[in-house]
Amino acid sequence: MKNGFSVFLASLVALGASWFGLVYGPLKQLGGAKETVVLQSDAKWPQQRTGDATLGLQVYRSVGCAACHTEQVRQTGVACELTLTGLGVQKPADFIAFTKALFVLPELASYTNAIAASLDGWNGGLPKTLLTSSDKDVVAEMADRLKAVGVRSETRIVATGADITRGWGQRQSVAADYLYDQPVQLGGLRAGPDLSNIGVRSPDLSWQLQHLYAPRSLVNNSTMPAFRFLFTVRKIGAPAAPDALVLPKEFAPADGYEVVPTADAKQLAAYLVSLKNNVPLYEAPFTPIPAAK
Ligand code: HEC
Repeated sequence: MKNGFSVFLASLVALGASWFGLVYGPLKQLGGAKETVVLQSDAKWPQQRTGDATLGLQVYRSVGCAACHTEQVRQTGVACELTLTGLGVQKPADFIAFTKALFVLPELASYTNAIAASLDGWNGGLPKTLLTSSDKDVVAEMADRLKAVGVRSETRIVATGADITRGWGQRQSVAADYLYDQPVQLGGLRAGPDLSNIGVRSPDLSWQLQHLYAPRSLVNNSTMPAFRFLFTVRKIGAPAAPDALVLPKEFAPADGYEVVPTADAKQLAAYLVSLKNNVPLYEAPFTPIPAAK
């Protein structure tokens, strides 16, 4: 072989380059990922999942939930938000008149329509988001002007992007979120919603179990397949199983029978309710929404 050495060299370079790109690069970037802390608190992040939830991840993997669900929230940027928390001595109508008078300010020009629309029909309920902007100076100026007339407000950092708008999370997913998961179930197709925060949206174990057994009993016309094999239908013994599902009539088994979750189903449900990415981190900051008063 005349060109033996060049062929060898070319393969070495090709394989070497892909090894660097696919193995060494990511390892260098993320291999040293460590527990981090939640912003403005001493709480550690992430928390180790409970034993049941850790086993549930293996059930999730083995039955192929990741074929239809992702566990990665994306965001396109951050914006600053101005939220009213107290009107002081002002009545809502006075406040609206005052705010509309500010519309002459040139820096507010591109926001006036949105502000006017949000104040339309507002009855004074608080907290109330008045302004969302990618420019923090506009928000700061508005906050100053409101403060001058005794109106209290808070500035908040919010993540923006389609996934956030869909309500799938308050921030993007970051590497630290997956620290204790093996294997990580990122998923690549969204036939169903993203599940990174399903433990925040549906924290109820019995909701999760019933949804796995009969998705349509909870979500009209759901196209999610029913995972019946994670349950046993059996004759009601004496006494009845304490964890039998409570199902609407049309999904219930024949009289005298009950639907009991297997250990796999319970672990899977425990895993689902443990899925939460709802804390602000250094690499993905946001201001948590205060509980409505
Ligand atoms: C064939 C695609 C498909 C597969 C496989 C699938 N799902 Fe779904 N899933 C969906 C669809 C579509 C929805 C939206 C309708 C609904 O809520 O029932 C959904 C909804 C959900 C929801 C509610 C989400 C929300 O935001 O309310 C959960 C929880 C869920 N799936 C968990 C699972 C788990 C766990 C598995 C594996 C056992 C799984 N899914 C497998 C398609 C699928």
